[in-house]
Amino acid sequence: MGALGFLEGMAYGADYNPEQWGPATWKEDLELMGEAGVNLVSLAIFSWARLEPRPGDYEFGWLDEVMDGLAGAGIGANLANATASPPPWFSHRYPETLPMQRDGTRLWTGSRQAYCPSSPIFREHAARLTEAVAGRYREHPALTMWHVSNEIGCHNALCFCDVSAEAFRAWLRSRYGSLDRLNEAWGTAFWSQRYGAWEEILPPRQAPSFRNPTQEVDFHRFSSDESLAVYLAQRDVLRAITPDVLITTNLMVTKFQRDLDYWSWAEHLDVLANDHYLDAADPDAHLELAFAADLTRGLAGGGPWMVMEHSTSAVNWQPRNVAKRPGEMLRNSLQHVARGSDAVMFFQWRASKAGAEKYHSAMVPHAGTGTKIWNEVVRLGEMLNRLGEVAGTRVMAEVALLFDWQSWWALETDAHPSIDVTYLDRPHAFHRALWRAGVTVDLVAPGASLDRYQLLIVPSLYIAGAETARQIEQFVAAGGTAIVTYMSGIVDEDLHITPGGFPPAFRRWLGITVEEFFPLRAGDRVALDDGTSADVWCELLHLTGAEAVASYADGPLAGTPAVTVHRHGEGTVWYTGTRLGPAGLQRLVSTALTTAGVQPTVPMVTAPAGLEATRRVGDRASYLFLINHGSDAAHVRATGYDLVADREVTGTASVTAGGVAVIRQTNP
Ligand code: GAL
Repeated sequence: MGALGFLEGMAYGADYNPEQWGPATWKEDLELMGEAGVNLVSLAIFSWARLEPRPGDYEFGWLDEVMDGLAGAGIGANLANATASPPPWFSHRYPETLPMQRDGTRLWTGSRQAYCPSSPIFREHAARLTEAVAGRYREHPALTMWHVSNEIGCHNALCFCDVSAEAFRAWLRSRYGSLDRLNEAWGTAFWSQRYGAWEEILPPRQAPSFRNPTQEVDFHRFSSDESLAVYLAQRDVLRAITPDVLITTNLMVTKFQRDLDYWSWAEHLDVLANDHYLDAADPDAHLELAFAADLTRGLAGGGPWMVMEHSTSAVNWQPRNVAKRPGEMLRNSLQHVARGSDAVMFFQWRASKAGAEKYHSAMVPHAGTGTKIWNEVVRLGEMLNRLGEVAGTRVMAEVALLFDWQSWWALETDAHPSIDVTYLDRPHAFHRALWRAGVTVDLVAPGASLDRYQLLIVPSLYIAGAETARQIEQFVAAGGTAIVTYMSGIVDEDLHITPGGFPPAFRRWLGITVEEFFPLRAGDRVALDDGTSADVWCELLHLTGAEAVASYADGPLAGTPAVTVHRHGEGTVWYTGTRLGPAGLQRLVSTALTTAGVQPTVPMVTAPAGLEATRRVGDRASYLFLINHGSDAAHVRATGYDLVADREVTGTASVTAGGVAVIRQTNP
């Protein structure tokens, strides 16, 4: 058994949707899977309508044949319980299960995932189908792991129907216990919002003006829990029937999905699995990939995880679906592995000839096997075969970045000082600066242990309860180095501001007090006296122990501090009261890295922009991943064995423009 508990080496494969084809194609599929080195497929994800064509009437014959074929070919099934999308008969019979948008619009059948997550009728039918599938395949030799539903909450995380309203009230009762406590937390003394009975409380539906922000964030908390409950109910059925089979579902850790707080989901997945797609409009999308992969590793507690879906080339759901350049798919795949994935899986195996995703790339494209995509698919299979020994090793980092879905929701509620202050902006900016510095960073939850880190980044941690604040303070006091940005430590878990100056939770040990926010007009920039510049955000800040590192040279706050540093206890903490441009941010990060004593992953001989370097560490050897996204060859100091090129490296490892290397280095 491998590190993920189900396969030796790396898993390689895709979503497999044989119901879109016939037996002749299934036969060819198995041959081609063999040629590509596929050893795992995610099967039957959207098969509900085919498996249960009429209520309670199951047809498993076709899936038996596919499962038998896979077993015969030595390919594992990451078998879905097929509940991802209820069939038309279900929504026709139970229209009350259809989800509802904020404005009261019902979402109808004819697409996918058209169900209310709180619907007891949906949950009951999903449990019944799960039982039937699990009962049928519990002993099947192809069954390798269970894939519950698919991207739970992708399209339906927030449902505003009456069934959801009832479930929301039950959730609030258990969170607050009493209406008095709820009224206090929601600040309902404001705008005559006081609730006198639980029945008066609704989801935050479309309203004449700004909605109550605490109600809004509580609705997000509730909705994340409801989607998790959808997973847990189905998982429990599988667990009871097959106690020894691993169970997972595919998360969506990406900038496109913000509705689910995955920190509370992670412990319930036997294998942490993620789907990731590039933003075709972003020329540096590989940097966002690195961020998402690091966050996924954080969810996996630092251990191995699996990329369950990505694309061989273009997707079909963005405005302009840019195809991947030669080599790009291999680099993307290796990036996931470099950051801890023990699998490379795609959506999907064979391009669909019909339906809404027929323009989505696949491992077997419409044009067949004499193609760029197929050649790279075969090459990747060979490469992953050689990288089998990497499975189970761990990525090590000395830098942590606090990431918080709840701050994401709260910071982006209505009526804040500037719409240009968005949550992901600063976490991404700091991650990029660290990437450019060649340093690996772990993304961790507020409250997670910080013991093994030298440097802590706290970007836009808008919500900070007393415990989180105390933990960060103690990290610094005990000798750690930290950077805290504006819009961190501003509100408590009820989204209340404590009077006395910003940021109330952090200002004492930051050695500063912020008197007033000074957001900038769209497009305005301010100069700093260290020669760099900033935009979007400024604050009137007073020093109460900290020193100014940079001050505004112009703009509304000319002459006042913009960036500060404070010695607190044994440690050092920087604060940025403005949105530093890339140059200022890179300088700050590099100073903090030096103070913290953190070195880049590998010494560069010639370091073109665009070289990504990470290390996975095992008991006997470590593996240096070098991924060159740039247009010039890169040379780094390294000795070992390159598993990609299959040759020794002595002294200097060279990676061609666009190329990759994975160098095994024996532990001293
Ligand atoms: C995922 C989904 C797949 C497929 C893919 C297309 O969100 O799980 O079923 O739709 O996107 O990129």
